[in-house]
Amino acid sequence: DRLSLWGGRFAGGPADALAELSRSTHFDWRLAAYDIAGSRAHARVLHRAGLLDDGTLSAMLDGLDRLAADVASGAFGPAPDDEDVHTALERGLIERVGPDVGGRLRAGRSRNDQVATLFRMYLRDHARVVGGLVLDVVDALVAQATTHLGVAMPGRTHLQHAQPVLLSHHLLAHAWALLRDVDRLRDWDTRAALSPYGSGALAGSSLGLDPEAVAADLGFPAAVENSIDGTASRDFVAELAFVLAMTAVDVSRIAEEVVLWATKEFGFVTLDDAYSTGSSIMPQKKNPDVAELARGKAGRLIGDLAGLLATLKALPLAYNRDLQEDKEPVFDAVDTLEVLLPAFSGMVATMVFDTARLESLAPQGFSLATDIAEWLVRQGVPFRVAHEVAGTCVRVCEERGIELWDLTDADLAVISPHLTPGVRDVLSVEGSLASRDAKGGTAPVRVAEQLDRVRAAAAGA
Ligand code: ARG
Repeated sequence: DRLSLWGGRFAGGPADALAELSRSTHFDWRLAAYDIAGSRAHARVLHRAGLLDDGTLSAMLDGLDRLAADVASGAFGPAPDDEDVHTALERGLIERVGPDVGGRLRAGRSRNDQVATLFRMYLRDHARVVGGLVLDVVDALVAQATTHLGVAMPGRTHLQHAQPVLLSHHLLAHAWALLRDVDRLRDWDTRAALSPYGSGALAGSSLGLDPEAVAADLGFPAAVENSIDGTASRDFVAELAFVLAMTAVDVSRIAEEVVLWATKEFGFVTLDDAYSTGSSIMPQKKNPDVAELARGKAGRLIGDLAGLLATLKALPLAYNRDLQEDKEPVFDAVDTLEVLLPAFSGMVATMVFDTARLESLAPQGFSLATDIAEWLVRQGVPFRVAHEVAGTCVRVCEERGIELWDLTDADLAVISPHLTPGVRDVLSVEGSLASRDAKGGTAPVRVAEQLDRVRAAAAGA
């Protein structure tokens, strides 16, 4: 029975060990519905080419409908002797309509063009699902940014206090990164949206079939230009794996901040109980496991991408069985994000910020020193001098254990004659934030505009 797809040339069936190695139904079964859709489209072009009469076509389509229903209900599934999803479904069709009708479907197609097409269909659907889930994270960030518009926090570089920024500005920085990931998914689709059906094993079909008709039937704007490329290329898989890995990496950067923010030392956020875990031994523990899993799973998606690229490297044209290794990594990437992202957006949407703490920490660590330097520049002082003067202010404060705004007018005058009392205008978080009012800056008016632009971009995505 294992001989069913290539019996003629072979005297005996495959060894059990080969069958065991070869079998892919445990991971490619998820393509079953797409395979049946492909078969319907293929039956119709065989009919149009005069290779199936009306009665045979309708018997075949009816059989495919019944097969689809049985696959959906679980009544039909892969058997141990089925090499892959395509083999299993051909068996299922023949069981339903007999070998005379069912045995005609394979004309003019190969599992090579078949799997390349179904894989694209599956990935296009799931790229859309993932895109929607990424937008849910964007929505959660936008909602937090909207609620907290006007709240200042310590902006950091090198994880050190750098300059005050608006919490909303910080959250929207993550939103823009995720919007680019959604944009990448959409852009990827324009390249993935070509149907290899009709490429056959590698050289195309001699049977007068119309690849463009199959493409249209399966929701593709066009068929591939080259049958060798159609059956042998997998850059559409690797490219998607990259976009998914990049998405996971972008999410992991939010995750890392949440892990830090939820510590006693930072104390910036409290996670909702529904998105926190406890400890089996330490009764007081409340752990940010969603964020940690997000951080960890990014590594997994990077591995999926690296594995795929390694499989593709130096593969000669056209189809090679190595290509069967293309599915599990990207399925893993898709599955991982489809589980991770809903939990992640829930965590972001429900986390509670300690806004009083954020505000009080915003000017700490001498984060207004740059404002002193830039104020001096506006007074006509060269920046090199201004930087030095502001740095001296910090050193004096550090020695005395005081903050910049504790310096008296006399202290300021001693440090530099340029430091007139007017400098106090910028020695506040409000003054500092409001002064950064060019496009893309953290001034409240700019961030409010930015919020509108993120909302529009998310709505248009
Ligand atoms: N299951 C295979 C894959 O996923 C398709 C079968 C192609 N087999 C072959 N001998 N050409 O790539």
